[in-house]
Order: sequence, then structure tokens, then C-alpha cells
Amino acid sequence: MTIAVTAVSGQLGSSIVRALQSFDSDVQIVGLARTPARVEDLGIDVRPGDYADPDTLTQSLTGVDTLLLVSGNEQPEARIQQHRNVLDAAKAAGVTKVVYTSVQGAEEGTAFSPVVQSNRQTEADVRECDLDWVVGRNGIYIEPDVEAIEDYKSAGEIANCAGEAKCGYTTRSELAFAYARMLTESSLNSQTFLLHGEPLTQSALASHLNSAFGTDLVFRSMSVDEYRADRVAALGDFIGTVIAGIYEGILTGANDQPSDYAAAVGRPHQAWDDYFSSLSS
Ligand SMILES: NC(=O)c1ccc[n+]([C@@H]2O[C@H](COP(=O)([O-])OP(=O)(O)OC[C@H]3O[C@@H](n4cnc5c(N)ncnc54)[C@H](OP(=O)(O)O)[C@@H]3O)[C@@H](O)[C@H]2O)c1
Repeated sequence: MTIAVTAVSGQLGSSIVRALQSFDSDVQIVGLARTPARVEDLGIDVRPGDYADPDTLTQSLTGVDTLLLVSGNEQPEARIQQHRNVLDAAKAAGVTKVVYTSVQGAEEGTAFSPVVQSNRQTEADVRECDLDWVVGRNGIYIEPDVEAIEDYKSAGEIANCAGEAKCGYTTRSELAFAYARMLTESSLNSQTFLLHGEPLTQSALASHLNSAFGTDLVFRSMSVDEYRADRVAALGDFIGTVIAGIYEGILTGANDQPSDYAAAVGRPHQAWDDYFSSLSS
């Protein structure tokens, strides 16, 4: 079997390739990349794969049986069309199964909701494209909070508008393992899986970071308006507004869902105590 993974110049795509390589199987792996020069040495066949270039996508998918489509990061309408380009190319090239990395979050009412809706549209396109399919809805990556530790230390706090609501976080390596299973296990076909670990409040996240880094962070709750203004000042109008929308969605409970991780993978998601201990060891 030949499996192609898109966006292998990115962190999730490359992690999925490594997870597939760790499986004891004779699967051939093809990597697609918009920017092949950015792909680290993964020991695989890397082909051009810009979601905006349908003809090249069709050529690059020649001989591929199963495709992993990593969600793009364009504005919602452009993203829907780009994902359709990939699905059309997959069908034209004779691919028989597609696995799509979607998102969790508030379906409506926040500045992040248009992004969620664009992912829901691609989910519908995947289900209706006459190929075998599996969809994963990714929890929020926890790594950016770990990478922000120096900023949090300087501030002495984590401050946002998630309130006391819980959020289903995950890691790219746990996602990668799940996607490697979803690509290779036909018993998982025609299902949609919510992929995250035990949901955490922001206060619990601060406690885990304190254990891992010896810090004394506290969580400070901000209003949505206050947090949006803070993020827009730091990151600019577009990104700042979307980030505030993600945390507003967490506040509404949209990211506190039952996880399907064990159903997809056959074991539970890594426990947060174990993940944070591994950072300090
Ligand atoms: N769950 C979460 O918390 C979370 C957070 C952020 C993003 N996301 C979503 O998850 C996706 C993957 O995350 P990541 O960690 O791998 O992000 P990343 O490391 O920033 O990588 C993004 C990848 O998408 C590729 N890409 C963007 N536009 C493309 C296009 N038109 N055609 C082909 N490839 C394109 C990039 O290619 P280049 O190297 O050419 O730029 C890069 O390989 C993101 O794209 C986004 O949709 C999820």
C-alpha cells in the first residue's frame, strides 16, 4: 500500500510520517509539500503538493492508495476550495481512501467559528467524495503553551478569557499516532473521531506547567473584550481576533467534549502528568 501525507514541511504532516514509519509494516510513504525545500530529511519520496495547484496534485498522487489531508491555513473560503482541489486530484489519480485532519471549536458565535465551519464543509466534502474516509477533529495543541513558558514566567501568569471551562488539549505526536492508525486500519473507516486528552482548565494547565518548570504561575481570568484587545495589540487585528475567538469558544464549553482517542487508537491518550513529567526529565 502507498500512503501520501500532505504538508510534510509542517509539524503535523512530518509527525504523521514518523508515526507511520514506526509501524511495523511495508507501507510506502509519499510526502507532498507546497515547499519541498522546507521538508526535513524524512527518508521518503517528496513530491510537490500545493493545495492551490490541482494539476500538480494529480501528478503527485499517481500510484497513491490512501491520502492524509492536513487542513490548510488560508482564509475559510479559500481553504474550502483548496481542500476541494486536493479531493478532486485524489479522485482523478485513483486514490481510494482519504483521511482528513479537522478541528474542534465553537461552531458559531466566535471569531474562530468561520474557520470551524470551513473545516466542517471539508468534512462534508470528504464524506461525499465517493472514497473511503476517516475524519479526525483535533483538540487544541498543548505545545504552544509549553513554548510560551518564558513569556508566562515574565508575566507570572497565564491570562485569557477561557474562564473556568475545560479544554481538550492534545499533542502533535499523539495526533500523529492516531492518524497513522486511521490511515492503516480499515475498521476505522466512515467514522469521525474527536482526538484529545483529558480536558484541562487554564488553572490546571498552569499547575502542570509549574510542576514541569518549577514556576509559580497563576491563571488570571479576563473578559472576552479585554482579551481580544490584548491579543490584537500583540498580534494584529486578524490573528489577535481569531485567537480571542478560540478562547471564547473554550469559555462556552465547545472544547470540553468526550474524547474518541481510545476508540481510534486502541489505547488512551497520553496522561498530562506523564507528558509534563517528560518535559522536565
Ligand atoms: N489544533 C490546533 O491547535 C491547531 C493550531 C494551529 C493550526 N492548526 C491546523 O493544523 C494544521 C497543521 O498544523 P501544523 O502544526 O503542521 O502547522 P505548521 O507546522 O505551521 O505547518 C503548516 C503546513 O501547512 C502547509 N500548507 C499551508 N498552505 C498550504 C497549501 N496551500 N498547500 C500545501 N501545503 C500548505 C505548510 O506548507 P509550507 O511549508 O509551504 O508553508 C506547512 O507544511 C494547520 O495548517 C492548521 O490548519 C491546528
